[in-house]
Amino acid sequence: MASITIAGLRKSYRNTEILKSLDLSIKDGEFISFLGPSGCGKSTLLFCIAGLEEINDGSIRFDNREITELGPRERNIALVFQDYALYPHMTVRGNIAFPLQQQKVDQQTINKQVAWAAETLGLESLLDRLPSDLSGGQRQRVAVGRAIVRNPSVLLMDEPLSNLDASLRVRMRTEIRRLQRELKMTVIFVTHDQEEAMVLSDRIAVMKDGIVQQFAAPMTVYTDPANHFVAGFIGSPQMNFLPAGLSGYNNDLVLGVRPHDINPAKAAGDGVHFTGELAFVESAGPVHFLDVMVGGHLVKATCSDPSGLEPGSQITLKAPGHALRFFKSGSGARVHMSSQH
Ligand SMILES: Nc1ncnc2c1ncn2[C@@H]1O[C@H](COP(=O)(O)OP(=O)(O)OP(=O)(O)O)[C@@H](O)[C@H]1O
Ligand SMILES: [Mg+2]
Repeated sequence: MASITIAGLRKSYRNTEILKSLDLSIKDGEFISFLGPSGCGKSTLLFCIAGLEEINDGSIRFDNREITELGPRERNIALVFQDYALYPHMTVRGNIAFPLQQQKVDQQTINKQVAWAAETLGLESLLDRLPSDLSGGQRQRVAVGRAIVRNPSVLLMDEPLSNLDASLRVRMRTEIRRLQRELKMTVIFVTHDQEEAMVLSDRIAVMKDGIVQQFAAPMTVYTDPANHFVAGFIGSPQMNFLPAGLSGYNNDLVLGVRPHDINPAKAAGDGVHFTGELAFVESAGPVHFLDVMVGGHLVKATCSDPSGLEPGSQITLKAPGHALRFFKSGSGARVHMSSQH
């Protein structure tokens, strides 16, 4: 397995700069996600690391070895794509064995490695089937088997779960995490699903417009977002953003507070209060979401017991001081205020 160091990486398509002087240091054995909206450059960055795209400037190192000039085959990486790209005319066994056959590995080693990959992924009983006779989850497992069969230094996955239904996605992501821990692989996982990135990753690189906005552990990105964009992209339902002037702070600031941190006020005390009209109560099992209109702004709050809360009535909400985040109105940069802590 390998560590990956990216420094000053620039990538353009024609005259458009897609990745803008990007730096990233990934440790050996880490599970990293590239997370961001469509078009932000996640796949482009992944393909640059894989050697499928040439870079315009900067360097990429694996274990401190410069690999920028090396082709994809020489980098010892494996890629799993969203559509799995299995060979339809080959059996599961043939698909998994394929990378080893290309490397002209001897048949005995191939058999051993394929048996190992099949066992690791629970594919033993499916080895003689064709991809067309497999479920989505099984196909996805074959694609992973084909990727790990030759012990790559780095496993790169581009939205590998997005073709699966919701419950299978959740099962497969647990399997991928287990496999990564077992094999101590360095994994880069591309996704635009913030929950997937949160539960899988050691660290998340949150990207926007070809720039890494923050690179940190999931809970750091969640509780200590670097800017307005990260704060809004991570967490569901989304963080509330309000003019800070509504709560008596500087009007040039945006106040951010997560729905889980705003609740009906029971008593006065520390924190900020918002009074408005309750528009809607949405019950989602153990938690209930309240939509409240405060000075023309929709505020989403939560409560554990909505009994007695009538839509159309006035309600006062409260958020504790430690839950408040502030951002500059224009740039979205995070502003640290002493009252937050
Ligand atoms: N071969 C190409 N030629 C020109 N522009 C490209 C090419 N490939 C990607 N782009 C552009 O580069 C930008 C980044 O694309 P990329 O595929 O990396 O985004 P992404 O973050 O993976 O998005 P998605 O979540 O939709 O897969 C987009 O604006 C895209 O249109
Ligand atoms: Mg992509």
